[in-house]
Amino acid sequence: MDTGRTQQPTDSASVMAKQGMEFAKPLHARLGPLFTTWVLGEKTVVVGSLELLRKCLSKEHELVEGDWPKATSTLLGPHSVTATTGDAHLRMRKILNPAFTVKAVAEFVPGMVGIAQRCCADWQKQGRVSGYDCSKEYTFLVALKIILGFKDADISASMLARCRSLFWVWLNGLFSFPIDLPGFTFYKAMKANKELRAILAENLQRLTEESKQPLTELGAGAPQQLRTCAQNLLDIRDDDGKPLSQGTLLDLNMTLLFAGHDTSAATLMRLLFVLGTQPEVMEKLRAEQQKVQAEHGEGITEATLREMPYTEACVKEALRISPIVGTIYRRTLCEFELGGYRIPKGRRVLLNMYQVLTSDERFADNGSGDGPGKFCPERWLGDDAHRAGAWIPFGGGPRMCLGYILAIAEIKILLAVLARTSTWRLLNPSEPYVPFPLPAPRDGLLMDIEALPR
Ligand code: HEM
Repeated sequence: MDTGRTQQPTDSASVMAKQGMEFAKPLHARLGPLFTTWVLGEKTVVVGSLELLRKCLSKEHELVEGDWPKATSTLLGPHSVTATTGDAHLRMRKILNPAFTVKAVAEFVPGMVGIAQRCCADWQKQGRVSGYDCSKEYTFLVALKIILGFKDADISASMLARCRSLFWVWLNGLFSFPIDLPGFTFYKAMKANKELRAILAENLQRLTEESKQPLTELGAGAPQQLRTCAQNLLDIRDDDGKPLSQGTLLDLNMTLLFAGHDTSAATLMRLLFVLGTQPEVMEKLRAEQQKVQAEHGEGITEATLREMPYTEACVKEALRISPIVGTIYRRTLCEFELGGYRIPKGRRVLLNMYQVLTSDERFADNGSGDGPGKFCPERWLGDDAHRAGAWIPFGGGPRMCLGYILAIAEIKILLAVLARTSTWRLLNPSEPYVPFPLPAPRDGLLMDIEALPR
C-alpha cells in the first residue's frame, strides 16, 4: 500500500517537541506535500498543502474523523462537541452555531471592552508584568464572564486564582497517559476536573434559575444585564424543542474553557511581542486608533470595531505567522486517494496547517518584497482575496472553530484598548520561543507597561 514517501524511520515526536512543526519544513521540501512518519510509535501521514488539507477538512465524517487521545475525550466529557463524531457532531454544530454568529458576538462587545479596560489599567498600576500572564488573565476573564456567564460578584480574587490553578492542572492532563492512579498527571487532572465542574455546575444552576424568572422579578427598572454566550446556550432548543441537558451544558462549558482561552491568549501574546519589536507596526496601529477616536469618539463598539482594518490585519497576521493550533490530528474512516497516494483505513493523519500558513506562496507577495516569514499586516489590506483562502488558522469544514468570530473580536478589542491607553517595553526583545507544549516565550515575555501620556 503506497501511503506517501516516508522519512527516515525515527520517531518525530521528540523533534516536534524541540522544533514544533518547523521540523516538517525540510521534509515537505524533500518529500512533497504528503509524507509518512512515526509519531509516538504510530505511523502518521503528514499533510501540508492547501489543496490536500482542504480535502481532509471538508470531508470530515466521510473520509476522516477527529482523533483525540483518550485523556482528552474523558476530561472533556461524552457530550462535548469536540468528542462527538458523525451525525451527532453535525446535529450538535447545527444547534450551537447560532450562539456564535456575528450578531451574537456583537452583543458581547461591551462586556469584553469593559474587561479589557480594567485589565489594562491594572497592568499599568503593576508596571512590570509578564505579557503571557496578562494575555491569559484577560482571556480567562472573558471565558468566565462572557462565555460561561459568571457574574462579577461571583469572581473573587481567590475564586479566580483557584479556577486558574485548577484549569492548568486539568489542561496538563488533556494530553497525558490516561492512568488514573495517585501521582500521575491524569489522576491530578481528574481531581481538578471534579472540582472545576462543581464550580461550573453551581454557576449553571444559578443561570438556569435566573432564566426561568419573569423579567419583573429581576426588577424591570434594574440596569440592563450584558448579554453573554452562556445565555445563548441556555436558550438553545433541539429539534424536539428541548433545552440542552445540564450534562451537555457542563461538557460544553469545559470544552469552551479549553478551546477558547489559551488559544486567544497565545495570539495576544504574540502581538505584544511583535508590537514591542516592530515599532513601525505599533505606530500605524496607534494612528488608526486615534483616527477612529477622532471620528467616532472614545467608545469601542461593534460598529467602531469594523472601522479598524489595520488592527484586524494585525490580528490576522499574528494568527497566520504564529498559529496556535498549527496541526490537527485525524484518523481515516476508509481507504482513499490523497495527493496521488492511497491512504489506508484507520491511518492517523496530521493536518499541517502551520506549513500552509507560514510557507504558502500566496504569502510570499505582500507588495514589499518580504517573504511569508515576515509579520506584515499590509498583506491583508487591499486585494487579499487570493490569500484569504489559504488563511486557515481556525481549520475548516464541519469542525471549523466554533468561536472564531468571538476570538477575533476578543483579540481586536484588547489590541485597540492597549494601543489607545498604554505603551510597553519588552525586557528581552530577543527572548526565544519554546514550541512545546504550546508555543510561548521562554520567560513569559516580561515587559514594563505604563499609561500613554494624555
Ligand atoms: C485564536 C483563537 C482560536 C484559534 C486559533 C482556534 C482554532 C481552532 C481550530 C483550528 C479548531 C479546529 C479543530 C479541529 O478541526 O479539530 C477549533 C475548534 C474549536 N474551537 Fe477554536 N480557536 C480559537 C478560539 C476559540 C474560542 C474563543 C472558542 C469559544 C468561545 C473556540 C471554540 C472552539 C470549539 C468549541 C471547537 C471545536 C469545534 C468542533 O469540534 O466542532 N475557539 N478552534
